[in-house]
Formats: sequence, structure tokens, C-alpha cells
Amino acid sequence: MKGFPTYFTPELVVASPGRINLIGEHTDYNMGYVLPAAIEKKISLQFQRNGSQKNCRVFSKNFNTGFEFDLSLLAPSQVTWENYILGVVHEIVKRGDRLGGFDCVLESDLPIGSGLSSSAALECGMAYGLNQLFNLGLDKLEMVKLSQAAEHTYVGTQCGIMDQFASVMGKAGHAILLDCRSLDYEMIPINLNPYKIILLNTKVVHNLASSEYNVRKRQCEEGLAVLRRRYPTLKSLREVTGSMLDSCKAIMGDITYRRCDFVLKENERVLQMAEALKQNNLQKVGQLLYEAHEGIRKDYEVSCVESDFLVDFTKDLPEILGARQTGGGFGGCTLNLVHGSFVDEFIAMATLSYQEAYTIDLEAYEVLPSQGTSCSMVQN
Ligand code: GLA
Repeated sequence: MKGFPTYFTPELVVASPGRINLIGEHTDYNMGYVLPAAIEKKISLQFQRNGSQKNCRVFSKNFNTGFEFDLSLLAPSQVTWENYILGVVHEIVKRGDRLGGFDCVLESDLPIGSGLSSSAALECGMAYGLNQLFNLGLDKLEMVKLSQAAEHTYVGTQCGIMDQFASVMGKAGHAILLDCRSLDYEMIPINLNPYKIILLNTKVVHNLASSEYNVRKRQCEEGLAVLRRRYPTLKSLREVTGSMLDSCKAIMGDITYRRCDFVLKENERVLQMAEALKQNNLQKVGQLLYEAHEGIRKDYEVSCVESDFLVDFTKDLPEILGARQTGGGFGGCTLNLVHGSFVDEFIAMATLSYQEAYTIDLEAYEVLPSQGTSCSMVQN
């Protein structure tokens, strides 16, 4: 199916949101803490069963193209976005759940490659829709986990669980303090008044993003392996203290040390941020955002000049409490805590300076913590 399906009377519509991460970058695959929230920007997926046993058709309105596949002949595609879908279908089939032929039409207002997890939104929306359409009986956590597995096997990014968890579990007005080791979580109310969360989209995605992501994960594993020689019972960087890490500094090598040190400190910052939000200490929230960005830039080295430029740009502006790059890295969006009365001026100033520096028109969005994936039946 390259074109829009001729007979399409959808039975259900799934709304699958993107996410921001307030703090806690690259801690999820190290079994640490994260503090993400689902946002209003989302992918909408319409589904119908098409009566066939195995023939499936997916059409993207944004790309104005689609593809077909056979449930008994699943294989990764050369086209990246197709793999998010095929990967989820593959994980469901692998579990032994029975799917039938279906058609799906996608439409998104979530910018792609902007660090807002359009990929997790697509995976989780697909899992949610198929679960409903074919009565698979999957619970939310199972859908989160199989969406994450799809990214590992079909897309090739060894991601943590944060994005899928935030997209599915999000709650309006709250961020999720998630312990990625136990998967226990606490909903933290977000009252930032009079400040607002403004995202500035750098509109750059450095192609390092996916390869360097896996490199960072491996470097953390290497650091852990060195630590284990002295502390054999360690299971993850989550259990490592600053003094344990320092005791292995000399044998670890500078890069590995800095990666691990960032993870330890970032975990601490997540807990501090959750506490600051509970106490409505917005100055502290802002300070932690800046500190986290410095770590991302200097120690974990997953920032880029464009993100650094936009974060640095805010530093002399008293109406802005803090800023940092959000998401996996190498571009995407910066997250800024901006006084409500200054938002328009800030966006205008940042747009101008960024245009002068990089000849790129940035995009700006205000985001609100929103509800996670939802599904509604269509009355035909
Ligand atoms: C990507 C991954 C997440 C997480 C972040 C970095 O978004 O999908 O699992 O590791 O990067 O915090």
C-alpha cells in the first residue's frame, strides 16, 4: 500500500504522546532514576481489521506513503520508520499472540528526531492499538517492554525503558519519578507557575545519535566491569558510590571514568529535582537543569554546538531559571524554564540569534505534562 487505503472505516483511534525528560539522561539503562513526562504532542493511529489473515497495511499521512507486510514473513526493513512498526508486530508474534490482517493510518504532530521520542510514541501506539484490536490482553507494562524490545531488535538502538514508559504511563500535570531498576514510580505534581516549559528545537539531528548511544552504553558497561574487579557483587552503576568510583579511577581511564561519574551525579540530580519540585523550589530546579547540561556536554559528551549555543544563550537572562538539552543527545530540543511574561520575547530573541549563528529557523513549543497513551473506539 503506497497510497491511502481505499476502504478505510477505522474501528479505533490511539493517541500516543511524545515525552520530555526533565532530568535523568542516560541513567535508565544504568538502572538509575529518570524524571520524564508525556506531552500533548502525539501520534494518532487509526486501526481497522481488514478481514485477511496475514496482510497488513500501514500508511503515514505525514510521509504520504505506506507499506505492506505479511505477518508470516516478518523481517526488518531498509526504511527506518517502518522498523518501529515491524519490530512491535514481531515482538507480539514472538510471544505467540494471534494477530490478523489490519490497516493502520498514522498522523503525527510530534517533530521527528527532536529528542521527544516520536519513535517510542509510534511503538507504543502500535502495541496499544493491536492489543485492543485483537484482544491480546497485554497490560501497560507488557506493552512498554515489548515496545522497548522492538527498538533493540528491529531498530538497533539499545535504549533504556524511559521513553516507552513515559509515553504509556504519563499523567496530566505530573512528571514520573521512575526507578528503572525496580520500575517503581511516583507521580510528581508539576506546579511551575509563573514559569513555563519552553522547548527550542535546534532542528539538527547529528547522525552520531544512534551509534554513539550504543557506544555510551558500552562505556558504562566497561566501567562497571572494572568496578566489579574490586566490588564483585555490583549489578549496575546504580549501586556505585562516588568513593567506590574514585578508588578505581586510576585503572579505569579518563573517558570511562567521566561517563560513570556523570551517571552517578545525574542520578543524584534526579532525586534532588524531585525534591525541589515537591518543595516548589524553582531556583533549585533551574540550577539542576544547568548542571545536568554541563555534565551532558563535558563528561558524557552527548551534546552538540547547536544545543550548547541555545543553553548558553539563556544564561544571562534573569527570566530563565535553567535550560538543558533533553533526550538522547546530539541535537533535538533544549528544555527551558521561562517566566510566563517573557516567553514571546525569549522565543523571538533566541530565533534571531540562532538564525544568525547557524542559518536555521528554530521551532519553539510550550509543553505541558500530559496523559499517556489512550484509545477510543470509533462508532461506525
Ligand atoms: C533515548 C533512549 C532512552 C534514554 C535517553 C537518554 O531517548 O531511548 O532510553 O536512554 O535516550 O536519557
